[in-house]
Amino acid sequence: MQGHPRKKLNVNRASVVHQVRYAARHPERVVPYLRRTARDLWLRAKHRDHVSYYRAVMASDAGRNPEAAVGSQSHERWLALGLMQFDYLKQHGLAPEHRMLDIGCGNLRAGWRFIDYLDPGHYYGIDISPDILVSAKRTLVTYDLQPKLPYLTISGDLTFDFLPDGHFDVVHAHSVFSHSPIEVIDEALSHVGRILTPGGFFDFTFDRTEGREHHVLHEDFYYRTETLVSLAERRGLKAQFMEDWERLPHGQSKIRVTTGG
Ligand SMILES: C[S@@+](CC[C@H](N)C(=O)[O-])C[C@H]1O[C@@H](n2cnc3c(N)ncnc32)[C@H](O)[C@@H]1O
Repeated sequence: MQGHPRKKLNVNRASVVHQVRYAARHPERVVPYLRRTARDLWLRAKHRDHVSYYRAVMASDAGRNPEAAVGSQSHERWLALGLMQFDYLKQHGLAPEHRMLDIGCGNLRAGWRFIDYLDPGHYYGIDISPDILVSAKRTLVTYDLQPKLPYLTISGDLTFDFLPDGHFDVVHAHSVFSHSPIEVIDEALSHVGRILTPGGFFDFTFDRTEGREHHVLHEDFYYRTETLVSLAERRGLKAQFMEDWERLPHGQSKIRVTTGG
């Protein structure tokens, strides 16, 4: 399986050996990492469940810089990462008449392009973070997308219980499961089949490892492909690893699931 050179598939970033070696190579990152560790301990003590914890992480990050909070260190990268998602989805089946649910839409890094492309009212973005949704609304204004009337809604879980049966042709989650424990991913996979149209699909990215599954500071989670494929299959879905996504300059991998109906 070909991987992008930036993907280091056998590294366990949670191991002490890796962390010591990494610190020796990047001494300038030690203090920021210690700050993140302290924040992680503090926020986990305050918030019992992962979603509340990660919402607090986003409040802290989005307060400083919303584009960095969704993972882009510069505006150029923010634009490029949004374009990469948009181009890929358009080449892999997205059509203007489709109804799309964007899970963890963030500040619409890709969302503004989907909104622009889709028919009015066909984009539905959900996110756990009120702070990033405020920033998402600013993105709508920047790109004059008010006439497209997208829905942007706060969410607390991924049961989709407030959404109708068989409604979405496309469900999308970019860089969301890379920040999610397995229970959150399983919840989404358990419920997504109900809201998909018969020919619909759900694309999600994840941080892939071919070694031991692990997480770093409860913020970044690394899974083996087979773990997520079998999780989807246990929920009655068909899962396909998207090989051609691997050729793109992006550190994560992508899986598409369908109901097979
Ligand atoms: C790295 S950002 C990516 C945002 C957007 N998908 C993009 O590519 O620009 C991850 C986003 O997912 C949201 N998020 C994390 N866990 C979530 C969950 N369980 N349900 C909904 N949103 C979630 C975060 O608040 C954040 O806005």
